[in-house]
Amino acid sequence: MEHILWEGNAVLLLDQRRLPSEVVYVRCEDVEAVARAIEEMVIRGAPAIGIVAALGVALEARRNPRRPEEAALRAIEVLGRTRPTARNLFWALERMKGILGSPFRDLVKALEEEALRIWREDVEANRAIGLHGSELLGPGSRVLTHCNAGALATGGYGTALGVIRRGFEEGKVRHVYATETRPFLQGSRLTAWELTREGIPVTLIVEGAAGYLMSRGMVDAVIVGADRITSRGDVANKIGTYTLAVLARQHSIPFYVAAPLSTFDFSLLGGDQIPIEERDPREVLEVGGRRIAPEGVEGMNPAFDVTPAEFVTAIITEKGVLWPPL
Ligand code: MRU
Repeated sequence: MEHILWEGNAVLLLDQRRLPSEVVYVRCEDVEAVARAIEEMVIRGAPAIGIVAALGVALEARRNPRRPEEAALRAIEVLGRTRPTARNLFWALERMKGILGSPFRDLVKALEEEALRIWREDVEANRAIGLHGSELLGPGSRVLTHCNAGALATGGYGTALGVIRRGFEEGKVRHVYATETRPFLQGSRLTAWELTREGIPVTLIVEGAAGYLMSRGMVDAVIVGADRITSRGDVANKIGTYTLAVLARQHSIPFYVAAPLSTFDFSLLGGDQIPIEERDPREVLEVGGRRIAPEGVEGMNPAFDVTPAEFVTAIITEKGVLWPPL
């Protein structure tokens, strides 16, 4: 099922807030609509956010054929304010900016082509990540994953789920444990949906159960995606990732991060420099729009955390596997 559709004068996005119960598309006809869709999590996942933002820039240029450069610059500014953590967003916007100023006769077309290239390259990168990652797994592995780093979170195929998909095809992956991923439930709603549709056996667990499973010898590897990776290898990913990495270390289970090079931010050394998005505390205080905590209680909702490089066994990229220096 397509989760991003490009119609030239609109971007259609499968509404990930409503999966798995409803399959509904949101139609975005200008950059404001694209920015809203990113902010409100119609589309989410670092590489997918970057691709859709690039399409948003192309869309806005096309809407303003007399002043496409001005429109694209404005779109880049608007989209850059949507979500702060995912490096892929800024990487994609920088690529789109790189098209401006060059002597293209048809800037609108050039921007569209660049956005589609970013998308295509991401799918190719994911397939390569799947290939490299699968080589790290022993036959019949039971893999634990967190959040959703699947086709829905990327241009298609997925990073962590790309490794799992490929591993399953090769008989390397026997079973997947997906954490539900409170508060937005990307694990229950999206990862479980993607894997079930592919016939990959998946069991849903609450995050709190991860240590129990590991202590019982039920997990052979942890594989997660990333939103931003610094030059020393610190990894920002969905809140709860750090906890899983510490648990994996305690139980001598390999902890792999699967991400394309577009997720790397070589301008940062330490993970403490990564901007961490804080979302509305109501996402924590409520379930399905109904308040579950007593009135007067405050909520805190950091959307990501940082796993220090020391806890990462290896980073799987499209160019190969990065191991820590000896
Ligand atoms: O808040 P989200 O759903 O955008 O967070 C997504 C994640 O944390 C993913 O693990 C990450 O973006 C990698 S997706 C290939």
